[in-house]
Formats: sequence, structure tokens, C-alpha cells
Amino acid sequence: MTDIPEEPSGPERVIGTPSPAPTAVDVPAAPTAPTPPTPVLDPPDAAHAKRAEQLVAALFVLAFLAGCAFIFSYIYFEVGQSTIHKGANAVVAVLRSNMALGSTLAVALLALGTGSMIWVRHLTPDIEIAEERHDLPSEPVDRKAFQHEFAEGAAMSQLTKRPLVRRTMLLATAPLALAPLVLLRDLGPLPQTDLRHTVWRKGLRAVTLGGLRPLRPADIDAPGSMITVIPEGYSGDQEALTKAGVILIKFAPGELHVPTNYNAGTLVSTMNWTVDKSIVAYSKICTHVGCPVALYEQTTHHILCPCHQSTFDAANGANVIFGPAARALPQLPLTVDADGYLAAASDFTQPVGPSFWERG
Ligand code: FES
Repeated sequence: MTDIPEEPSGPERVIGTPSPAPTAVDVPAAPTAPTPPTPVLDPPDAAHAKRAEQLVAALFVLAFLAGCAFIFSYIYFEVGQSTIHKGANAVVAVLRSNMALGSTLAVALLALGTGSMIWVRHLTPDIEIAEERHDLPSEPVDRKAFQHEFAEGAAMSQLTKRPLVRRTMLLATAPLALAPLVLLRDLGPLPQTDLRHTVWRKGLRAVTLGGLRPLRPADIDAPGSMITVIPEGYSGDQEALTKAGVILIKFAPGELHVPTNYNAGTLVSTMNWTVDKSIVAYSKICTHVGCPVALYEQTTHHILCPCHQSTFDAANGANVIFGPAARALPQLPLTVDADGYLAAASDFTQPVGPSFWERG
């Protein structure tokens, strides 16, 4: 007779009822995930890493110096505001400023970028990382994993281990972060009343733009012609000329409707601002956004701005008859001086150039 092994004891089972829940002894143990190998944080060649670190630091210091030079150049190479920069000197000053600003900023960004590249390539471990997609929001366990990986990444970047690189990098970025604040200087000073005046004044002759030749009324002999003139003595002053350009238009007898000194259709003065009721002078700067009005159609007496097609009626105070310009071309009061040359009777009585909100 063979012995039958005893079943393990458990609760007594009644036929027709479900079998009892498995005990802890029956549950198979969950397979444990293999522990990933700890990544190597330091580069294998310590001497090479040290040299790379020093090179990175040197590049960051160079970026810092170039950033400081950028700010210095911006302040030192003054353009625009200075009264010593006139005419050709102003152009040279702009060239110098652009050269200094461009080269120093280029060196700063290049050194910063090269240093960062060497840092990543020679000081951080070369590890490929792939991340599985998962639903949002992240599970708490994933967040913990992220925190862990972030800390690990920070350690791998060597930021905490290499204070020399960290500090010089912060040093390198400081001037670039500061530069936009320095550029705010260009918001001032306020133009005050500069935009309302030009260099034209009583008795200042009008000379041709090309030959700088003063003109007598008889020199403009053909009705229908338009000539660009500038104030005498200002041919080298680019800043003055941006506002002082004027067009002279000669009309046949009876074509010009005088008085011509209108502002948006309203007569602003009863003076006759023309010469012989046949020659009139208007600002060459379009009142829309400031393009030079360069086209004149002599049969209709229309002055056309090529930028956005604003059209002004030269025979009627250069009032706007078409286009986006909001007001007439300002008229320069014109006269003839003691020697018989065309000259200004005064400055413009309205601001020239694009309208701005203060003008109402
Ligand atoms: Fe003349 Fe725009 S600048 S129409």
C-alpha cells in the first residue's frame, strides 16, 4: 500500500463553491526589472577634459570681453546726435559704428557658441537617450523619474563639478544680457520742436541739387518743369537735407491758383507765396511716410509720390487729391532776393514730412 501525500491544510471546501483565493505561497513572484547601468558621468580622458575645460573658459572670457567692447563701441562711436558729425563725416561715423558694433557682437556670439559646442562635445558623456511617449499628465512615478534624470543630466553637464566653466559662462552672457538695456538710450532725447522746423530761413537762396547753382526766375523758362532745390550751404548736411528738400514748379500764366498757401483746403494766410504767380515751392517730402515726391505730370499739374501713389494738386496748394497722405505738401514761402535769385521768405509754416499724432 502506497502512502498518499497529504494536501496542504486550508479552509474546508464545500462542493459547488468557488475555490479559495490563492495564498501568498501560490502567487508567483513578479519579475524584477533589470537595474540600468549607472552612466559614466566623467569623460574617460581626464587630461583631455581639463584642456577642454580651459579652452571653454578662455572662449567664455573672450565672449565677455567682446560683449563689453560692444557696449563700449555703442557709447564711444556716437552717430546722429553729435554736432561734430556733418555731411561726409556723418557717413564715416556710421560706418565706423557699424563696423565696431558688428565685429564685437560677432566675436561675442561666436566665442560663446564655440565654447558651448566644445563643452558639450568634450566634457559631457556621449549617451544616446530615447524617451517613450506616454499620456499626460505624468504619473507620480514618472515625475520622480524626471527629477532623477534632471539631476543626473545636471551632473553629466559638469555644471556643478566645474565651477570655472559655470562662472565664466555666466560672465560671458552678462554683457549680452545687459546690451538691450544700454540700447534703450536711443529712445531719447526727445526731438522737442526739431520736427517742426527746417534750416530754411528768410533770404536763404535755393540752389540746384546737382550743380549747387542759385536760380533766377528766368532760369526756369519752360512752364511745366519741376526742379529739386536745396538750401544754399547745406549740400553736405545730410541731416538738414532730409527735411529741407524742395521742388520748384513753373506754371504757365493763369494756371497757378493763387493764393496757394492752403492747409488741408483751408487758406492759412493771404500772402502770395509764389514768384510772379508762376513759380511755387513745395516740400519734396511726402506727408504720408516721407518718400521723396519725384514725379510731376505737367498737363494735370499732379505731383505723384511713387511709394503709395499719393497725388497732390500742384496748382492748388499741393492739396491731396488721391492716396493715403493726410495733408497737403507744405509750401515754402518764396521770394526773390536783392540780387534777383530765388530765396525763401521764411521757414515752412507747417512741419514737413509724415504726419504724426501731435499735429492733430
Ligand atoms: Fe508718399 Fe506713402 S510715402 S504715398
